[in-house]
Amino acid sequence: VKARAALFVCVLCSACSEPPAPRVCPPVELVAPDPLSIDAAREAHRWAALRRELRFEEARAPGAVMRLTSARTEDPDACLSELYVAGRILFEHEASFADGLGNQLAPVGPRSPFRRVHEGRFGGPETNGCRSCHWRGGIAGGGGLVDDALLFGDGDAVSSADARNPPALSGVGVIERLAAEMSAELAVLRDDAIGQARGSGANVPRELEARGVRFGALVAHPDGSLDTSGVEGVDADLVVRPFGWKGTVATVREASQNALQIHMGLQTEELVDERAGDTELLGTGSASDPDRDGHARELTSRQLDALVLFLAAQAVPILRPHERVDGLERAADGLLAPLGHVYVDEWIAGRALFDDLGCASCHRPQLLLLDATFVSGGVTLDLATEAEHPRIRYDGASGGYPVFLFSDLRRHDLGDENASTHVDGGVPPRQWLTRPLWGLASSAPWLHDGSAPSLDLAIARHGGEAAESRAAFEALDFDQKGALRIFLMSLRRQWRPAVP
Ligand code: HEC
Ligand code: HEC
Repeated sequence: VKARAALFVCVLCSACSEPPAPRVCPPVELVAPDPLSIDAAREAHRWAALRRELRFEEARAPGAVMRLTSARTEDPDACLSELYVAGRILFEHEASFADGLGNQLAPVGPRSPFRRVHEGRFGGPETNGCRSCHWRGGIAGGGGLVDDALLFGDGDAVSSADARNPPALSGVGVIERLAAEMSAELAVLRDDAIGQARGSGANVPRELEARGVRFGALVAHPDGSLDTSGVEGVDADLVVRPFGWKGTVATVREASQNALQIHMGLQTEELVDERAGDTELLGTGSASDPDRDGHARELTSRQLDALVLFLAAQAVPILRPHERVDGLERAADGLLAPLGHVYVDEWIAGRALFDDLGCASCHRPQLLLLDATFVSGGVTLDLATEAEHPRIRYDGASGGYPVFLFSDLRRHDLGDENASTHVDGGVPPRQWLTRPLWGLASSAPWLHDGSAPSLDLAIARHGGEAAESRAAFEALDFDQKGALRIFLMSLRRQWRPAVP
């Protein structure tokens, strides 16, 4: 009777009343602001419990996580924090055949879907989840040497491939925005030169610079064409691509779709649409299921929105001198007693050496971000108020958000000792993007192939344009080298409690 009455009221209402009010989302607080609080510990515990719950549901009904996150993200009223949760679940999910893991190479059956070495741009797949590679230093962190992806190979021989170490994903939303602002600056310079050349009927040379970083020069011709042979450190289209060790990818969205395809054989509906016909990347199957594993639309655009949101909202690493935690001597049972250091003097000396040695000419300690709004697909995130803690902060004096990135987001020639086997996205073997050093201490081993277990070795592989800087480091005495290492080892992620 009650139900009938309710139905009756509803019918009445729908005839005469306005549409339901839009849902009001709670204020966004993605992680507990104080990492040492009991709330933060409880949060970590809840995440572990949630993962376990979802594993049971997967065990009962394979494909459950994909179905749940798909339904949640399709809800047009889903709040930002709900999308973030869905994104994190997707990032931590270990995909199975029910989700479309793998491809035609090993359809469901007794064969493993994995192969260690990638074949061209099509990829492996070599694993079943983002976290299997991006874990070191915490969730969405870097990877060890054995987590290297073996890219652009022949699908078999390790020697045919290029080893690439999983970089940490801290602050990728901020990095994407910074690069986009730099690209816009370069585009203004180019368009202005073209305008002047058209107006004057003469060639117009133009130096290229964005956020104080130089990108060579171009010449605009009166017919509107360009001579870009003098452009340096960026592609001829002047789009700053801050992702991938070679700087070949512009957005977190593109990097994520690519990762899903090459490491797991999961094809997003967007990738399948946008790259239709690119059989080298997608496979040779039908338009809806190019990788021929019997699964179409393996990830919806909304699920991808959620995954990208989770990554864009990652905290930024911290820049702070060493500070000893209270009670540490007691906890270490006297072990630390012989050490007199507090490392602050060394830190200050090391920071100065970083400039003196020329490291800062490529690893720019600070770049200024002007607009903190991150937009991708259907999600918008204010990186200064809605991302995880710690976040970027507005600085009135500089009129923007200082980002302590330690990169110039351009490519440099690091010489033969550090060269790759393959040309990647048109980028020659000796060229690499200046790796941001923020978070460095949380992402060893270092360099593009993870081959450097020590900072000294990472620096020793700096040839080419960085050869002078390397020589200056090698000429330092014992204490000075120690000071520089102390400064570098202070660049880390904020600690957060975690339950594995
Ligand atoms: C097999 C290891 C591996 C797995 C699994 C993996 N990645 Fe990565 N990831 C890498 C490597 C290696 C790079 C650098 C690629 C390059 O240099 O072109 C990278 C780069 C990225 C980047 C760009 C970051 C930067 O600074 O260059 C993003 C974003 C990313 N991965 C997201 C993901 C997501 C999302 C997943 C899960 C769908 C994932 N990755 C799974 C190895 C992995
Ligand atoms: C000419 C530009 C340039 C200069 C100068 C330079 N670097 Fe680098 N640095 C790079 C590039 C490019 C990479 C990425 C190398 C790669 O991908 O293998 C890098 C990588 C690194 C890494 C590894 C980061 C990681 O996450 O794997 C460290 C550490 C580093 N540099 C420290 C230094 C120090 C210290 C100095 C000064 C002594 C210095 N660099 C000078 C361009 C430079």
